[in-house]
Amino acid sequence: MPSMDSTKPVLVFDSGIGGLTVLREARVLMPERRFLYIADDSGFPYGGWEEGALKARLIRLFGELLRDHDPALCVIACNTAFTLAGADLRAAYPRMRFVGTVPAIKPAAERTRSGLISVLATPGTVRRAYTRGLIQSFASRCEVQLVGSANLARMAECYVRGGTLDEAAVRAEMAPCFVEKNGRRTDIVVLACTHYPFLANVFRRLAPWPVDWLDPAEAIARRARSLLPRVARQSMTREASVAVFTGGSPDAVTRRLMEGLGLRVAR
Ligand code: DGL
Repeated sequence: MPSMDSTKPVLVFDSGIGGLTVLREARVLMPERRFLYIADDSGFPYGGWEEGALKARLIRLFGELLRDHDPALCVIACNTAFTLAGADLRAAYPRMRFVGTVPAIKPAAERTRSGLISVLATPGTVRRAYTRGLIQSFASRCEVQLVGSANLARMAECYVRGGTLDEAAVRAEMAPCFVEKNGRRTDIVVLACTHYPFLANVFRRLAPWPVDWLDPAEAIARRARSLLPRVARQSMTREASVAVFTGGSPDAVTRRLMEGLGLRVAR
């Protein structure tokens, strides 16, 4: 008999389409799994929310999601949400396993050669005590530039849906990531918002010099897979993976985007 877990969906959560950067890696690693993608688009963008209000929203929303969908595991594919509420979610729902997304400061500190690293994130993630804690624990010997962008997540949402990008605006948002000091230059930029990997090629093209852009999506997907029992192909569910938008029915472009990724949009 397959374990009950094998028929339950893996829930991947974000405020918008950013979590799809994690979902696409998770699907490659776990093709036999059924996924449930939750976009809290009625709360998007999370970057500017007041901390107490966002935390309360997430605790309440997860109460409903766990009750309605009974997932095998939850991947919080959102730095802004997890750095704020990861510990509270685990405390509120101790029977559920949560895989989080946090700024990849530790691997950046291990890899940098110049000692200058930048963290490109939402204003919320930049403000978090959690993020400061990561810097103190893992990057105390580096100079870490925290860059909070109020606009990039929204730009990524528009770009992924086929909208045009104001390159001068993108350049202005990313400019503070590039620091030159005593003959040294930033050599790593951590993409600490799951929306940003969608813009990685644009960032590369507009960067004043080449850097490594660190995207933790694959590591998160690997972590999720390590916590789930393997599912034999013959016990694979035939049910489709589904995307749910908290705002209700998304527009036709978003719907096509989801369908292109193999997700049926719940009405
Ligand atoms: N994708 C989210 C993150 O990883 C945040 C985007 C937003 O809602 O501002 O931080």
